[in-house]
Amino acid sequence: MRLLILNGSPRVERSNTLKIANAFAAGFPQADIETVHIYKQNIKPCLGCFSCWTKTPGRCVIVDDMLELFEKIKHSDVIIESFPLYFFGIPSGFKAFIDRCLPLMKTYLGSDDKNGTDSFHELRDKSLLEKRLVLISTCGYVKPEPMYPALLNQFDLICGNGNYTSILCSEGELFGYDGLAERQKRGYLSDVTKAGAEFAQNGKLSEETIRKISKPVLSPDGFEKIVRSHWGGEDFPQI
Ligand SMILES: Cc1cc2nc3c(=O)[nH]c(=O)nc-3n(C[C@H](O)[C@H](O)[C@H](O)COP(=O)(O)O)c2cc1C
Repeated sequence: MRLLILNGSPRVERSNTLKIANAFAAGFPQADIETVHIYKQNIKPCLGCFSCWTKTPGRCVIVDDMLELFEKIKHSDVIIESFPLYFFGIPSGFKAFIDRCLPLMKTYLGSDDKNGTDSFHELRDKSLLEKRLVLISTCGYVKPEPMYPALLNQFDLICGNGNYTSILCSEGELFGYDGLAERQKRGYLSDVTKAGAEFAQNGKLSEETIRKISKPVLSPDGFEKIVRSHWGGEDFPQI
């Protein structure tokens, strides 16, 4: 099985989110894993010219690293999009990559889908539908629920509701604090690796597994103490 991890954190190798993506990938037995650090790629922003829909259907006029990335996507079985939450959404460098995926899609021709499970754009290459997409994101808040509705709504609209699996980790900043809450972080990552093994076997995660890995790593109080001791300063006076 070929796994492609698209790391959309500007912190590249130091990304908190990548630690979770790597733990998930570790659950796949004998997988061929490749990681692409999007912020190290030459990916220019979409020009909005629509040439990929008109003059050169399926092909972008910009020649940069996206061409190679499309090839990698084509040859992967599982694509993991791993990025931090920025202002309730996608970090700009990763959004540039998503915008540049427009050539993969056809123009919107209307939909009679009543259940809202379709993407609004039909894929040019239907074999892309056979690939599994996993969204892995971390954020700095204590609970995922208030942070992720906008992002999930966006992914539902882009991919079609239910056409991807999401792993959302609140308190993700903990993974950047070395020497703090190490036991709890190890426990969480080990649960994520088990989730990876389940996904490798079944192509999806059970409700129970999703519940388990959606729980914050620490209690709100424990997290607050660590955040205060890490940041200090006048924004976080000691109490
Ligand atoms: C510009 C910026 C915006 C952020 N926006 C949010 C946010 O809306 N909600 C949140 O909970 N955390 C937010 N965070 C915190 C990051 O999501 C969090 O630190 C994450 O774990 C970083 O992951 P990474 O190391 O993979 O980049 C933000 C961080 C930055 C730098």
